[in-house]
Amino acid sequence: MVDHVRRVGSSLWALRVCARTLCRPHGTRCNFPLHPGLTPWANTFRPFRGLLLSKALHLDRIARNTWVLLVSVNLLSSVFVSYGLAQTGATLDREAWLRYAAVDAKAARAYEKLPSSSVLLSRSAVLENAQRELAGGIEKLLGRKLNSTENIKGSAIVLATLHDLHSIAPSLRPPIALATDGYWITWARLHDSECLVVAAPNDRGVLYGMFALLSKVARGESIAGVNEAQNPYAPIRWVNQWDNLDGRIERGYGGPSIFFEDGKVRSDLTRAGDYARLLASIGINGCTINNVNAAPGILEPSFIVQVKRIADVFRPWGVQLSISVDLSSPKVVGGLDTFDPLDPRVGDWWRKKADAIYEQIPDLGGFVVKADSEGRSGPSAYGRTHADAANVIARALKPHGGVVFYRAFVYNHHLDWRDLKNDRARAAYDNFHPLDGKFDDNAIVQIKNGPIDFQVREPVSPLFAGLRNTNEAIELQITQEYTGQQKHLCFLVPMWKEVLDFDMRVDGTPARVKNLLSGRIFRRPIGGFAGVANVGMDTNWLGSPMAMANLYGFGRLAWNPDLSSEAIVDEWTRLTFGSDPAVVKTVADLQLRSWHVYENYTGPLGAGTLTNITGNHYDPGPESSEGNGWGQWHRADHQGIGMDRTVATGTGYIGQYPPEVGKLYESLAACPDNLLLFFHHVPYTYVLHSGKTVIQHVYDSHYEGAEEAQGFVTEWKNVEGHVDGERYQDVLSRFEFQAAEAIKWRDVICKWIYQLSGIPDNKGRVTQ
Ligand code: GCU
Repeated sequence: MVDHVRRVGSSLWALRVCARTLCRPHGTRCNFPLHPGLTPWANTFRPFRGLLLSKALHLDRIARNTWVLLVSVNLLSSVFVSYGLAQTGATLDREAWLRYAAVDAKAARAYEKLPSSSVLLSRSAVLENAQRELAGGIEKLLGRKLNSTENIKGSAIVLATLHDLHSIAPSLRPPIALATDGYWITWARLHDSECLVVAAPNDRGVLYGMFALLSKVARGESIAGVNEAQNPYAPIRWVNQWDNLDGRIERGYGGPSIFFEDGKVRSDLTRAGDYARLLASIGINGCTINNVNAAPGILEPSFIVQVKRIADVFRPWGVQLSISVDLSSPKVVGGLDTFDPLDPRVGDWWRKKADAIYEQIPDLGGFVVKADSEGRSGPSAYGRTHADAANVIARALKPHGGVVFYRAFVYNHHLDWRDLKNDRARAAYDNFHPLDGKFDDNAIVQIKNGPIDFQVREPVSPLFAGLRNTNEAIELQITQEYTGQQKHLCFLVPMWKEVLDFDMRVDGTPARVKNLLSGRIFRRPIGGFAGVANVGMDTNWLGSPMAMANLYGFGRLAWNPDLSSEAIVDEWTRLTFGSDPAVVKTVADLQLRSWHVYENYTGPLGAGTLTNITGNHYDPGPESSEGNGWGQWHRADHQGIGMDRTVATGTGYIGQYPPEVGKLYESLAACPDNLLLFFHHVPYTYVLHSGKTVIQHVYDSHYEGAEEAQGFVTEWKNVEGHVDGERYQDVLSRFEFQAAEAIKWRDVICKWIYQLSGIPDNKGRVTQ
């Protein structure tokens, strides 16, 4: 009977997952409203309804039927499948990679020598928190109580800053010099007792070392002779949340904001604290809590006292809060008649505002600014530069140790698409390169990884090599805006690694992007990583358990971009689902293939995602890219496809790269296939390095991608009974949905390009 109830419950739950996956609105911002009576798919075609409405309605009917079928399949499978494991998915989801699942008795024996007490050599909110987390983790992992004692009396785990450690053991030195936030885990004799020491230059480093220790135990790694010191790659390791004050999240797919509700800070900030814990465990040290399209109201004194409460729950986890600000704030909420950055009254306003905020939040990280972009106010209103705008804010933050992130995502979204020389990709470099050296030393230019906007494949932004005397940070997107909105599996770490490892060849010498943004190449004092995360109130934060690997992976790469994608996914899987070999192998395989699979059935050869760019950024909508000023053009016509960005005949964008990279992209013969259509306009019959024509590649890749997506369902079924039933079922529903969506993508794109080109698929699969 209990089983029966559980199964019925599970069926209802499966239905809910399906409904949630299928019906949730795609983000909170659209350029025109979705039609409530249509599925998102049919909505894609609404702007072209004169031409396509009857077709769209027909497709919509098919989509509805497919979905009904999927829901039924889910319902049936969850009724008839019995699960080997307890259904505790919701709790597990919320704990994410910090579940600290009990290790089996055999594995636990390897940790018998682990001391049974812990000692703090000094006290602070962060250190005490670290000690609590350690005790909680060890209890869950090994079923052992870790007593906290005041002094070292016998073997203990000692959590200490290097300064305090040296006061009792002056000769102990880490194997490498430790930077802020770095840590050292080692065995040492202290007060005649064998101790496991977790030491760091600062409290936060001790917290990170403690999390590293727990991660080792959770993954079954030996700590017998451990002597490990690690430094973060860059000082800036932040996430950005695009949360609106009303509680909605721009491009958020995991439920409403964990910070805001109905124009106020939530009264219960438990999830905000839990989020800070997750972030700390992967070395993230800052979180911007509100949308880059910032509501000026956040700077009102009545709001800052509320924001202070969020900073208070972040603080024990060493996560510094930061705020997105609107440049027009001095006028909109400050009562001035101007926001001209060079007007002394404006400078004064920002200074006083910063002083007042730091009184409430003494460890504020700083501000993020989006200006002169997508309709936001900016310095151009007064004929001023982005450096002027950044510096007026930087100077207000400077006395308090704060920084300003000034986003390079500045472009004109009213470009004339008829002019083939226009090119949105040029915008960041054209705007910011001339200002190099003009930004204050606590200003950081935050640059999206590619020159357009988080597409499934873009070249690296040339601006990374274009700023020699300016701090920079890379902006990566964890939330899958253009990469399947968490409904499709798309593990982005391999993509980010390609970007970070890309060699810009500055002055003919190696200049990997990771070394440019961390400040190593041009000796910049600060720099690093900002990830747009957009977690929400859903129990699994991002709305999908598998998507959490992107958040984990972002943190791990920001800490150490030299880690391999394989190592990251292995760690994440063991921490999230356990170390059952079948699970570790299957999850790694699925995650590691997923980006290419998604790319295959969505956007070919660097043409972009071919998604609906004026609407939901999710459904196929290749027509939506053209005939408007947004500049995400693929320039497909009846003869060919691709943007000519060459210096010789195109927009000249390629000239923004250092010469060696430019030479590679300028040459049609040398340009890599996977970026061909980003850089060149070619006939459909152009033959790729692979030996295929462009058009045949489009057909084949879409069919292959869709087929691989079908395979995800079968492959996931290998882990049935090896992971808890609830997460198994959730992920299965998502794969089933993705499989149907991949077919939809395949058919829409293949038909569209066949109609345009009139060139048939040589395998005869594509029909009118
Ligand atoms: C994209 C995204 C917007 C966001 C913008 C940004 O265009 O769709 O929602 O505001 O990027 O990064 O500022």
